[in-house]
Amino acid sequence: MTDPLGPQGRRVIPVALAGRSYEVVIGRALLSEIGPRFAGLKPAAKAAVVADPTVARHYGPMVLDSLAVAGVKASLIEVPSGEGAKSFDGLEALCDALLAAKVERRDGVIALGGGVVGDLAGLAAGLIKRGVDFIQAPTTLLAQVDSSVGGKTAIDTRAGKNLVGLFHQPRLVLADLDTLTTLPPREVRAGLAEVVKYGLIGDAPFFAWCTREARALNTLSPSALSHAVGVSVAAKAAIVAADETEMGQRALLNLGHTFGHAIELLSGMDGSVLHGEAVAIGMGLAFDVSVALDLCPAPDAHAVRAGLAQLGLPLAVPEPVRRQGVDAFLAAMAQDKKNEAGRLTLILARGIGQAFVIKDAPVDKVAAHLQLSVFGTHPL
Ligand SMILES: NC(=O)c1ccc[n+]([C@@H]2O[C@H](COP(=O)([O-])OP(=O)(O)OC[C@H]3O[C@@H](n4cnc5c(N)ncnc54)[C@H](O)[C@@H]3O)[C@@H](O)[C@H]2O)c1
Ligand SMILES: [Zn+2]
Repeated sequence: MTDPLGPQGRRVIPVALAGRSYEVVIGRALLSEIGPRFAGLKPAAKAAVVADPTVARHYGPMVLDSLAVAGVKASLIEVPSGEGAKSFDGLEALCDALLAAKVERRDGVIALGGGVVGDLAGLAAGLIKRGVDFIQAPTTLLAQVDSSVGGKTAIDTRAGKNLVGLFHQPRLVLADLDTLTTLPPREVRAGLAEVVKYGLIGDAPFFAWCTREARALNTLSPSALSHAVGVSVAAKAAIVAADETEMGQRALLNLGHTFGHAIELLSGMDGSVLHGEAVAIGMGLAFDVSVALDLCPAPDAHAVRAGLAQLGLPLAVPEPVRRQGVDAFLAAMAQDKKNEAGRLTLILARGIGQAFVIKDAPVDKVAAHLQLSVFGTHPL
């Protein structure tokens, strides 16, 4: 494999959105450049860096130093870690803190952390003073390959995940691969679910590469990692550029997510199942349902399960979710934002790399399959 980062050790992927275009920069030691990059984008502006306590401890000083050296006045605002921070209470507390830090319309917010901080800080940035600019500095694999790119921001509500939010595009995404060295292995694996998703959606050779390189990816081999992040971001950037507000093909990025969100919701969104883990289980279910509906050859679904297992990802619906039964599961799936006029929208597949959106999925058949294979007495 040629070095995917090129001679400068950087890969720059544009997200082409007319007046709101921006770059995703992938490479090493990028956080130490955040000061000059921020100052270049927003001359004479202040920065509010938002991070959870773990990320603030690991990377807060480096980011604040870089901003100070570049002459940028900055404050660090800590938010609680975990999905629970993506709540109305969490949003209110963060907006209050940003206003207390005197963030003005022309200033900028830096979301330093995983998808939780990116979603929450991005939403707060989109709301305060009717919208201020923000930069994504993603520090989890999941955030680097998925949540930091594309401008979706949100909090969760009682009714489900990500139901209150805005499209608010960042001005820049800095994906510093060095930050992944401190990420717990379980979080790395969860991020790999979203990496592999791009292969399953539309790039069968990339899926095969991911399963072949499972060990290298899990052990954070620099060349495997930079290839995986580069391919994933390029795939996401292309889809977002073609369909920013998810009127069509952007929905493909939700492969496994309708099932996955139901799993997250029914497990109480308490961190017992990570988002990427739920997505992995959901992608397995999406392929199984595709086979049950005679849309997809069975060997493809077997290969998906084998590949996910190879990467160390879970496949079985957790017991506490199974115990709640198929009706509760379907009700949780029905909360999905993709559903229109009470019809179930699903992302299914005709094979590996051939995902498609089905707007009126046959609920009875999907329910019967889930009852038989997941919720029956002899689940898979
Ligand atoms: N906006 C989108 O398009 C989009 C897409 C996918 C997922 N999401 C959202 O992303 C969230 C999940 O994000 P996540 O998986 O990044 O989880 P996360 O943000 O909760 O981070 C996971 C954990 O890793 C820790 N952490 C982060 N970076 C670290 C580092 N470099 N070293 C050590 N510890 C570190 C955090 O403190 C946290 O405890 C979900 O809320 C999901 O809904 C959003
Ligand atoms: Zn996801």
